[in-house]
Amino acid sequence: MKLIKQLLIMMLLCLPFLNCTSTKKEEPKTTLKDALSGKFLIGTAMNSSQIWGKDTLGVKVITQQFDAVVAENCMKSMHLQPKDGEFDFKDADQFVDFGERNNMFITGHCLIWHSQVPAWFFTDTVGKDVSKEILTERMKNHITTVVSRYKGRVKGWDVVNEALNDDGTYRNSKFYTIIGKDFIPLAFKFAHDADPDAELYYNDYNEWYAGKRDSIVKMVIQLKDQGLRIDAVGMQGHIGMDYPNLEDYKAAMDSFAAAGVKVMVTELELSALPTPRPNVGANISDIEIYRKEMNPYTDGLPDSVATAWTNRMASFFKLFIDNSDKIERVTLWGVSDADSWKNDFPMPGRTDYPLLFDRNHQPKTIVSTIIQEAKKNK
Ligand code: XIL
Repeated sequence: MKLIKQLLIMMLLCLPFLNCTSTKKEEPKTTLKDALSGKFLIGTAMNSSQIWGKDTLGVKVITQQFDAVVAENCMKSMHLQPKDGEFDFKDADQFVDFGERNNMFITGHCLIWHSQVPAWFFTDTVGKDVSKEILTERMKNHITTVVSRYKGRVKGWDVVNEALNDDGTYRNSKFYTIIGKDFIPLAFKFAHDADPDAELYYNDYNEWYAGKRDSIVKMVIQLKDQGLRIDAVGMQGHIGMDYPNLEDYKAAMDSFAAAGVKVMVTELELSALPTPRPNVGANISDIEIYRKEMNPYTDGLPDSVATAWTNRMASFFKLFIDNSDKIERVTLWGVSDADSWKNDFPMPGRTDYPLLFDRNHQPKTIVSTIIQEAKKNK
């Protein structure tokens, strides 16, 4: 009897603890967007399978971890206006709906770019280059139609993408050879006229090269001198294990901030693979033939490489966090390693590990490293 009484007392004493463990909810884990709030937006590019909700695991990561989105492809001119005057907004509308439903900052990428632009844009019915006047009119029509459609909803636009070479000279694109350097201010003017409240950006890669960096600073100052709106320079972050060095990246950020614009780190990913050519850049048509020795980690990253990757990505995020007064947004170019275009660029058919979430959509160590670094700086 005494034993039963003792047992009953013990059970009663334990009850609160039992109760506690059975009803207490798991503490929600801090997410990237929570940890980085007040510093900068943290975004991702979305592919069409995420936009349409087919990649459910990807969508879950996007809504949990990120507060900004950009479309990886569907807002490029070849998708939006495949034929002269025939627009296709199906995917882009769905993308913008997704961003709004989830209260995300939506960036439009991109209005004027030499790549992923349909051939008709520059040619007449017999395939000859159109005149400066006609190309300007086509630019105006494209920009006005697209920006007006998403007025007030898409909050910022990559107006001009990749207009310069690494040495800072103008890229020999059709926009440049037909219109001349005025195509840049014209594009900014057309975009601003269509949505005066939208933020407007110039976006490029390899901006850590002094020539390119200085030409962008000059461009920003000239646009401002002409009374045109430019809010930020987008720094595509297609980085590798051996390029760029942090000091050069920081010097570019500082130069853009000193020119009176914000910095957006756009298209961030860190390739874990050997670099197949120097100054690899991100011009999408500069492709290398597959070489097996350039694809060494098909079965997973060795620990030493994974650690080196984490350390390098961490040092970039530390730079961003330490300079968050200059940076409005950091956007990853995709969610999981399986999504990344780096599996096929600059060499198709490789297995790369460039993003924050692995092929099973699990966060890599870097995610908690970033969260800790952000909390340290709160
Ligand atoms: C890439 C996409 O990720 C790929 O899916 C597509 O096949 C080619 O374009 N600079 C940019 C991005 O501004 O739009 C490019 O995105 C990568 C380089």
